[in-house]
Amino acid sequence: MPTHARSATLLSALRPQNQDRLYDFYRDLRTADELYFDHHVNAWVATGHAVVSSTAGDPRFSSVRYPDIEAVSEELRPLARVLSRQMLYSDAPDHARLRTLLSRAFTPRAVAALRERVSDAVDLIISRVALTGRTDIVADLARPLPLAVICDLLGVPEEDRGMLSAWSDPVAAAIGDSRLGPEESRAASDSMEHMLTYLRQLLSREDGPPAPHTLRALLATGAQNPDQDFNELLANCALLLIAGHETTTHFIGNATLALLEHPEAASQLRDRPELIPAAIEELLRYDSPVQLMLRRARHDLNLAGRSLTAGQTVLLVCGAANRDPAAFSDPDVLDFDRPPGGHVAFGYGPHFCLGAALARLEGAIVLEALLTRLPEGRLAGPPPRWQRSLNFRGLESLEIAFTPA
Ligand code: HEM
Repeated sequence: MPTHARSATLLSALRPQNQDRLYDFYRDLRTADELYFDHHVNAWVATGHAVVSSTAGDPRFSSVRYPDIEAVSEELRPLARVLSRQMLYSDAPDHARLRTLLSRAFTPRAVAALRERVSDAVDLIISRVALTGRTDIVADLARPLPLAVICDLLGVPEEDRGMLSAWSDPVAAAIGDSRLGPEESRAASDSMEHMLTYLRQLLSREDGPPAPHTLRALLATGAQNPDQDFNELLANCALLLIAGHETTTHFIGNATLALLEHPEAASQLRDRPELIPAAIEELLRYDSPVQLMLRRARHDLNLAGRSLTAGQTVLLVCGAANRDPAAFSDPDVLDFDRPPGGHVAFGYGPHFCLGAALARLEGAIVLEALLTRLPEGRLAGPPPRWQRSLNFRGLESLEIAFTPA
């Protein structure tokens, strides 16, 4: 194994100076060794596209995040118990059962039916900020929009949404950084508990039948099924809430920044809006909102010529895989004419993102609105700062200025 890989650690990605040059950092890791054991995180780290995509769908690996709950710190344990019941961290047959239960709410057809609602929400936000000449895209658009969409699907009243978002953040932070102190761990566990208490009341409420085939209806049907464990349903409802908005928030922020930094790409899209679906995929590849997936070896096995022992963790760095020159020519170039397919921003295999169609829809509507209604937008304010997380890549804020309407 090359020396560089032995001394390198993925944790260095958390250093502020590396967050700004994250993809150079990944390139160094990948060039040294695309699969190496990182002693600092006590896990194998995979940065090559072939190994990341094949491992994500490889049945020799498990997605169970906490195989031994008792080994988790006392503060984090309540959160770990809930996460363990979510489909994202489950294997067959539980995984397939949960995914089948909820997937009908996310079919392309079900998602297409949300187009008007998403467009109206984007319109309202852009009309408000267009008058001002300045906006923080993260605070004004990227955070509230996906939250509003997923809360609509769950039937969460508007006045409660801020509260849910405040509970979601500490949980996302705990997922993003496994070295949290006791206070942050306790805050994440408490937040999850508050969220579950809220969702329990929400799903038990009888305020008129929900529209058929909606997410709320599927959850209501699941809740009435005597064979369905209500707590398991709540845990997955929390997953949808958190996965459904944190990631899409980051996507909108990252995509907007990429377009501001590549004005020629933005004007290409303005001239050829039919490129927007391809642009969405390329922007997801270029700066992926989810950077890491986790898998665990079910038994001793061989992966890309390395011997892994049962129980060992492999961190699949999608952000690095998406910049692998073996899979994408000129991977550091943002190119909307690139041949389609191949990125792993939504994962790969049985856990492929359930909300991908919804995220694509939200992204496309936002891009179109920004390009047509704030065409003069330019970076303003302090240089954008990245949130501290290994799992997620997203901006704290993104100030832009433009000529007021
Ligand atoms: C741009 C936005 C998004 C990105 C980049 C993203 C990314 C991902 C990735 C990489 C995975 C796979 C994780 C793994 O295999 O370990 C995943 C799974 C998942 N995502 Fe997304 N996601 C996004 C938006 C959404 C939305 C809007 C929803 C729901 C409304 C959602 C719900 C889920 C769920 C439920 C899973 C677990 C699926 C399973 O275990 O079968 N995601 N997502």
